[in-house]
Amino acid sequence: MKKSTLLTIGMTGYSFYNAYKTAQIQQRTKTGQTVLITGASSGIGKDLAYEFAKHGFNVILSSRRKDKLQEIAKDLEKNYPIRTYVFCADLSSANGARQLYEDITKAGIQVDQLVNNAGAGVAAQLIHVSPETLEELINLNIVSVTMLCRLFGKDMAERKTGKILNVASMSSFVANPGLNLYGPSKSYDYFLSETLYGELMDHGVHVSVLCPGPVKTNWNAHAGRKDSIFCMNSKKVAAEAYVGLQAEKLVIIPGTLFQCARTAVRFLPDQCTIRFLKTFQKRLK
Ligand SMILES: NC(=O)c1ccc[n+]([C@@H]2O[C@H](COP(=O)([O-])OP(=O)(O)OC[C@H]3O[C@@H](n4cnc5c(N)ncnc54)[C@H](OP(=O)(O)O)[C@@H]3O)[C@@H](O)[C@H]2O)c1
Repeated sequence: MKKSTLLTIGMTGYSFYNAYKTAQIQQRTKTGQTVLITGASSGIGKDLAYEFAKHGFNVILSSRRKDKLQEIAKDLEKNYPIRTYVFCADLSSANGARQLYEDITKAGIQVDQLVNNAGAGVAAQLIHVSPETLEELINLNIVSVTMLCRLFGKDMAERKTGKILNVASMSSFVANPGLNLYGPSKSYDYFLSETLYGELMDHGVHVSVLCPGPVKTNWNAHAGRKDSIFCMNSKKVAAEAYVGLQAEKLVIIPGTLFQCARTAVRFLPDQCTIRFLKTFQKRLK
């Protein structure tokens, strides 16, 4: 047999195998949809990746650490009949979000649901944080979240379907002295989500905002402080977030304690909560 005939048979066989694998995955997955999760290499983002995979979503994992993402992607594919994709991005750079959008679009992957989870903070007073670090935090917690909502949100609106989950915090509701712009940046994410909920509802796109209290992850260690005794389990937070998003809740606050706390801060005088949180933050140093 000629070499070229063998090559054609090989290639045809390979495309049949690929088509068969895709069909098999679609048949076995409940949704066949694809979710993009930023900050998927650890903590809440990683647990959200398992939660979406468990429910049949193909998962695009993004963060800065390729090795971590690849490890998680491999484990997800081993345990669930889904596809995974890894896209590295540094969302603290001014152009990080646009680059991520371009990379995913160029690869021809459609994002059906978006989770803006990557975020960070620094435990210090604003005057003690370098201007460069502040700029990076603003890019990560504010600029990138906005850009990804704008870019993927527009595609979803054109398709008249999609969901976005932005990860804010209980710090969206109260001033948190000692965490500088973290609280204000999460208030921004909270109000951005509420605004987009109103704007995108006419386009068939739903937006939720997740506002967890303290969660046991690497966040506190990275921020340079201790975990609080009130820390919730990250898997539990991810499970509540997944259900809340699919049920199209606007604000998702995991845990009864924190739902009550949110109501309480509405009634307490601002000066009282600020003084309380200032004392509380000092204990975490
Ligand atoms: N833990 C809490 O107490 C708590 C409470 C309320 C809200 N939150 C919010 O929940 C979200 C997830 O935090 P977590 O608690 O799961 O913390 P985490 O374990 O530290 O995870 C943070 C994730 O964000 C990614 N990330 C950090 N900087 C990045 C950058 N410049 N570019 C791209 N990705 C970046 C990290 O990946 P790489 O290092 O690989 O880039 C990691 O995957 C954050 O938005 C956080 O503010 C946390």
